[in-house]
Amino acid sequence: MRIDVFTLFPEWFAWMDGVRHLQNARRQGDLETRFFSYRDHTVLSGGQVDDAPFGGGPGMVLRVDVVARAFEQVYGCDAERVRAERSVVVLTPRGRRFTDAVARELAAGPPLTLLCGRYEGFDERIHTLLASDAVSIGPYVLAGGEIPAMAVIDACARRIPGALGNAASLDAESFGTELGGRTEHPHYTRPADFRGHGVPDVLLSGDHGAVARWREAHLGTAPGAELGPRGGAC
Ligand code: ADE
Repeated sequence: MRIDVFTLFPEWFAWMDGVRHLQNARRQGDLETRFFSYRDHTVLSGGQVDDAPFGGGPGMVLRVDVVARAFEQVYGCDAERVRAERSVVVLTPRGRRFTDAVARELAAGPPLTLLCGRYEGFDERIHTLLASDAVSIGPYVLAGGEIPAMAVIDACARRIPGALGNAASLDAESFGTELGGRTEHPHYTRPADFRGHGVPDVLLSGDHGAVARWREAHLGTAPGAELGPRGGAC
């Protein structure tokens, strides 16, 4: 899987090099990530990459000519041709909702180019001329697309064979078709008794059939649903 990120803050992504499953995926030779700064590709003075919106209004808008030049320098072809070879995904609250199904789709598709914006967002011609997709990680506005891009990279890269220590983790996990789009059942581990709070007896029974039935019955339950509402001051 090849993932390129265009951002004003490529250095923010440095920590991702240390994330275990990305390291695993990279070591298997199946993941290559590259991070590019728009500023390294602008010809405008002072490293300018954005401008005031036509028609007035607050904030600044990422310029289409800056993104186009960055594409042409990195990919060596007309900027409008890039999306013929790659999924060019704009991270924006206006995009389609990022779900596990979208992660699967992007992971299985052509190489990815993720575009992070700041400020008011992107000149609309970035969407219409350069991008092939737009994704939002949720109905809230972040200060930029970098954290959404990290979420996309994480969710896609963990699907690369060898990325996860235990490949079975990918089977029957939350939101997968195997679970009918539901979230996983609750998990418990030692200690069996924590300050008087036990675990469901069936999980300690050694009866695999009963355990499977309990897990099936508890798919899609909210965390702590067994315990009822919690709270209280520290
Ligand atoms: N940029 C700012 N907020 C965002 C969001 N919720 N999803 C994707 N990109 C964003």
